[in-house]
Amino acid sequence: MKKLSYSPRPATEDDISQVAELEKGSMLKPWSKSSLDEELTNENSIFWVVTDDDTDSEVLAYAIVRKALNESHLLTILVKKEHRKQGIAEWFLRKLINKCEKEQIESMFLDVSVKNTSAIGLYQKLGFIIVRTIKDFYPDNISAYSMVYKMKQIKIDLPEKEATIERKNFN
Ligand SMILES: CC(C)(COP(=O)(O)OP(=O)(O)OC[C@H]1O[C@@H](n2cnc3c(N)ncnc32)[C@H](O)[C@@H]1OP(=O)(O)O)[C@@H](O)C(=O)NCCC(=O)NCCS
Repeated sequence: MKKLSYSPRPATEDDISQVAELEKGSMLKPWSKSSLDEELTNENSIFWVVTDDDTDSEVLAYAIVRKALNESHLLTILVKKEHRKQGIAEWFLRKLINKCEKEQIESMFLDVSVKNTSAIGLYQKLGFIIVRTIKDFYPDNISAYSMVYKMKQIKIDLPEKEATIERKNFN
């Protein structure tokens, strides 16, 4: 079977219906079509989709990151059901983090349902840490974890050698 090849690109008007359907099908607080439309022209948003390289028309995954000064917020990310557990989210989120890092952004925040073990697993694998729990954040009294990823590394001079320690190890 031919391996699926895919690439990220900025979302366009033509992608919005697919993204809205995927939001409705999977998210606890789905984005409406009109809110998604607004993100297309929001200069503080990175709204990317991942599409197959053959047709560039099927949305396999998407994400929205909002930038605010030196912080960013991952507002939504999804991989289509039939393409999950193949590393797409990890690869895609690393690309988004790299883009933010290049724009001098120092951290990425997000909120995730405490029940969403797959997303929590993804974020923890990438180095996000839980900073607090927000009670009843989602409908049906579902709580959320706020998580953060610190992009920057701090350098510490040790007597013998220089060590680089990721800031995510510090609270
Ligand atoms: C969360 C989501 C984006 C993960 O996408 P994915 O492409 O399947 O994830 P990946 O294949 O890149 O997995 C990366 C890591 O995430 C974690 N993970 C992914 N799916 C998991 C699952 N079903 N159970 C536990 N951990 C899981 C694992 O740590 C995995 O690493 P591993 O493969 O080495 O175990 C996807 O399940 C999804 O779209 N869910 C619905 C939308 C959603 O909940 N978005 C997050 C809102 S905050």
